[in-house]
Amino acid sequence: MSKNDMKKILVTGAVGQIGSELTMILRKRYGNENVLATGRKTKPSETLLNSGPFEYIDITKRETIEKVVKDYGIDTIYNMAAILSAVGEEKPLVCWNVNINGMYNILEIAREHEMTRVFVPSSIAAFGPETPRKNTPQETVLKPKTMYGVTKVSGELLGDYYFKRFNLDVRGVRYPGIISSETLPGGGTTDYAVEIFYEAIRNKKYTCFVKRDTILPMMYMPDCIKGTINLMEADVSKLKHHSDFNLASMSFSAGELEEEIKKHVPEFKCEFKPDFRQDIADSWPQSIDDSAARKEWGWKPKYNLQTMTLDMLEKLNRRYEKGDL
Ligand code: SER
Repeated sequence: MSKNDMKKILVTGAVGQIGSELTMILRKRYGNENVLATGRKTKPSETLLNSGPFEYIDITKRETIEKVVKDYGIDTIYNMAAILSAVGEEKPLVCWNVNINGMYNILEIAREHEMTRVFVPSSIAAFGPETPRKNTPQETVLKPKTMYGVTKVSGELLGDYYFKRFNLDVRGVRYPGIISSETLPGGGTTDYAVEIFYEAIRNKKYTCFVKRDTILPMMYMPDCIKGTINLMEADVSKLKHHSDFNLASMSFSAGELEEEIKKHVPEFKCEFKPDFRQDIADSWPQSIDDSAARKEWGWKPKYNLQTMTLDMLEKLNRRYEKGDL
């Protein structure tokens, strides 16, 4: 493990779904002052603000990244700022600008400052309708049909290019849909798997925007963060892949998720009214072969549908009782 060579960490997108929880865990692990959280516009939570440094930057504006990198002596970046798939279809040019030009700025600054390591997430959106949908292999057809997917494939290729050409240690995983209890995702196709929990607690009903039999790969936030940090701390000599690790933990249909929630909230009612996101979901895999991640850096998820559902409902119930939902 190479934990000690990452001393000053920058997290972009730290107010987002993954960034907000990742920042807090990195602060615990590396020291509050050593993890700079950044966002573009959204106000950070008190927890984020009171536990360590926070700055506003815009990754599409190179000088704003450069300033914090110099001011804080950054040697490691987790680039969690991104436009997700559904918003990406509504605003493809914005999606390109943030996910590609923004990422390029991050990589260039990391190269110029000879940084230790950069994390750039990819997604199951890198796959497309021509990809085998079951147990999707590590090496396979990458022909996504969304702008988000196009930026993710490009990001993987760019990350691997920087590793080979400039010796910049870029790492990344293809995240499945991420389910979390702290911060809602914004503008993704897998958002229904999070919203359904909030609505089950708040209103006991939910209208799901994909069909009941839609199966997608998903992951609970604690596993997502564990995987992210484990990959970043893995011994580089063991890695054959760099920016494109398949990562999996569970797969279920929207209907199975409804049934699982009903075991704990019997009065819960779910309707299914697919919208434009159905086509996106249908172009993505149902399950993922993540044996490369398991072999090269010891990936092993903890949660399944049952344990994730129980934990989500407990956490959200607690927030609801505090008046925080
Ligand atoms: N959760 C993302 C989305 O739905 C996929 O990476 O856009």
